[in-house]
Amino acid sequence: MTDSSTEGNETFGDLGRILVIIPTYNEVVNIPLITARVRAAVPEAHILVADDNSPDGTGDEADRLAASDPHIQVLHRKGKEGLGAAYLAGFRWGIEHGFDVLVEMDADGSHQPEQLPRLLTALRGGADLALGSRWVPGGEVVNWPVSRQLISRGGSFYSRTMLKVQIRDVTGGYRAFRKHTLLGIGMSEVASQGYCFQVDLAWRAVRAGFTVAEVPITFVEREFGSSKMSRNILVEALLRVTSWGVNYRLGRVPAPVAEVEVQTAQS
Ligand code: GDD
Ligand code: MN
Repeated sequence: MTDSSTEGNETFGDLGRILVIIPTYNEVVNIPLITARVRAAVPEAHILVADDNSPDGTGDEADRLAASDPHIQVLHRKGKEGLGAAYLAGFRWGIEHGFDVLVEMDADGSHQPEQLPRLLTALRGGADLALGSRWVPGGEVVNWPVSRQLISRGGSFYSRTMLKVQIRDVTGGYRAFRKHTLLGIGMSEVASQGYCFQVDLAWRAVRAGFTVAEVPITFVEREFGSSKMSRNILVEALLRVTSWGVNYRLGRVPAPVAEVEVQTAQS
């Protein structure tokens, strides 16, 4: 069950230049589908595929798509270094290339491009960071096994409690950042590699005093390929969130340091 139509025919040019970053590891079937949906849903947006040298040829497929569409570009990375590293590289690339809004989106269709206008509308309404949320009224999950729902809800609950943060879906990965938000959260200090990267960035945004809006989304489990969620990713998340929480309570977690803007390639 996916949304077949984009919500409204709005344009978002007033937000500046929009870049949708799609990290990929073995998503060869999904990458043409997701890029086509993004292009249809928000035609003015550009796409950066951040591929970790996927053995299944996702990078080559992305190059083919990029060759026929100037709105698609590919960041080839040398190997699998985790979701966090791929996004940080994508954010830096986007800021260097003059983008004003940077969107995180999974390649597998779980984050529906047709709902991107919701996130962009929240930015327009004054949010510095818009989070797509499964766990607020109107948000939902389709086709997820109970085990995954428990991990996600449990992970969100544990993170909220440990870090004293009010966000309901703090582990979600469908997000839109204003550039100034990324520059204000101390990106260069981020060490999270796996999915705890999402908790890390949301928590940093809150601590830096940014306005974070949660927007309901429908998360649809993938049809093709497989999840990269692993025991190592869970363990990293548990260890990091616990240590952040303990240090925070001991007064040892300073607010993130803002970074000066990197020189842009096109300004
Ligand atoms: N470049 C790169 N490198 N991409 C990666 C890596 C990596 O090491 N690991 C995962 N990805 C990409 C996948 O190819 C996919 O496009 C996206 O990141 C999400 O990976 P999935 O494996 O599909 O994640 P999930 O469905 O299990 O998890 C979802 O829920 C998590 C918990 O809420 C995602 O939305 C996560 O972002 C979220 O944290
Ligand atoms: Mn997925």
